[in-house]
Amino acid sequence: MSTNDVTVIDRDGTPKSIGWEPDQTLMEALRDNGLPVLASCGGTASCATCHVFLEPEIFGRLGERSEDELELLAEAEGYRECGSRLSCQIGHDPGLDGLTVTLAPED
Ligand code: FES
Repeated sequence: MSTNDVTVIDRDGTPKSIGWEPDQTLMEALRDNGLPVLASCGGTASCATCHVFLEPEIFGRLGERSEDELELLAEAEGYRECGSRLSCQIGHDPGLDGLTVTLAPED
């Protein structure tokens, strides 16, 4: 598998291009590229600091969110029913090359 190109819109609206390696979750790609994603739970779907917004089309293509993920997100700042995801729960997928992802506001 090859590296995905991802455009990340930072919390101040600045776009940044990063590479998403096949062995990383989306959260790890964001964090390891210096974006302000705290990921304080280390990727176990229990902190919501990796909350991102996806475009509706991409959001719809990914599977359902788990109950744990949904519970956390529903309490998160700026929650969007169609768009909010925990980036630690999104595994690398070649089909996600060219993804645009927006960092959600901090709680
Ligand atoms: S890193 Fe904590 S919920 Fe994703």
